[in-house]
Amino acid sequence: MSILCIANQKGGVGKTTTAVNLAAGLARRGHKVLLVDLDIQGSATATLGVRLKEGDPSVAECLVHERQIEHVVRETSTDNLYVAPAGETLAAVDIHLATAMAREHVLERCLSTVSAKVDHIVIDTAPYLGLLTTNALVAAQHIVVPVSCEYLPILGLKLFGETLTRMRTRLGAPCNILGYVLTMYDKREKITAEIESILRRNFGAAIFADPIRVNTRHKAAPSHKKTIFEFEAKNGKGRNDYEKLVDGVLARLDEYARSAERLPQVVDEVRSVLDSNR
Ligand SMILES: Nc1ncnc2c1ncn2[C@@H]1O[C@H](COP(=O)(O)OP(=O)(O)O)[C@@H](O)[C@H]1O
Ligand SMILES: [Mg+2]
Repeated sequence: MSILCIANQKGGVGKTTTAVNLAAGLARRGHKVLLVDLDIQGSATATLGVRLKEGDPSVAECLVHERQIEHVVRETSTDNLYVAPAGETLAAVDIHLATAMAREHVLERCLSTVSAKVDHIVIDTAPYLGLLTTNALVAAQHIVVPVSCEYLPILGLKLFGETLTRMRTRLGAPCNILGYVLTMYDKREKITAEIESILRRNFGAAIFADPIRVNTRHKAAPSHKKTIFEFEAKNGKGRNDYEKLVDGVLARLDEYARSAERLPQVVDEVRSVLDSNR
């Protein structure tokens, strides 16, 4: 089981597109996936074709009343892909959370029963670091950061990195960055190469090898309430890009699982070296 949070405090960098298509791509490989929509605009919910009627319960009610997210999960048109939808009421939740007990850990508590029933939870977040996003970052084991190649994002990323460091020390959250994904990637644009080289210099191997190229199909798919896999023909470049991201994410999750398994062994080895030097 993995909980992945898609985050970057900048808007319009491809968070929702990545959350929806990464979740759908994992589901198409046979993994059971829940997408939790924590953006007040509810774009991921809308893209997955879920419309809430007035009074329908959503993630907001779960967070306010500390009910399990499991109760609001809906099916989508993609097999194995489920969504916990955002509704308009999500906008008021930040204020409610401010007075909750251990307010940064509410989502973590609300995910406890559903996390035993799925293989991955993917959380889409809003473009600001309020309490909703903080809850998402605390609940997650891994963070995937989409970075758009349209403008220089370094300053925002530095701030984001500092926020994560604070959350690790003060809230005890793992806040592990699984990787940065370059989005809106256009090789013909000079700025793409410039931004890519700055990012690779700063973040090195943390950047996923394959970028998500700029593609008008990503803009059109949400209005048809489709994932890129439903909207684009086989071998389309948007589909291929997200398939490669799924490969990259699964490979890194696998690496983490294996290094976690090896950790006790490494600790033993270090201990025996220390003992023999005594
Ligand atoms: N690779 C891409 N190429 C072209 N347009 C894209 C791409 N990824 C996302 N978009 C479009 O850019 C806009 C912002 O993307 P979105 O995923 O909603 O970002 P965020 O959730 O970070 O605000 C949307 O209109 C989306 O359809
Ligand atoms: Mg979004």
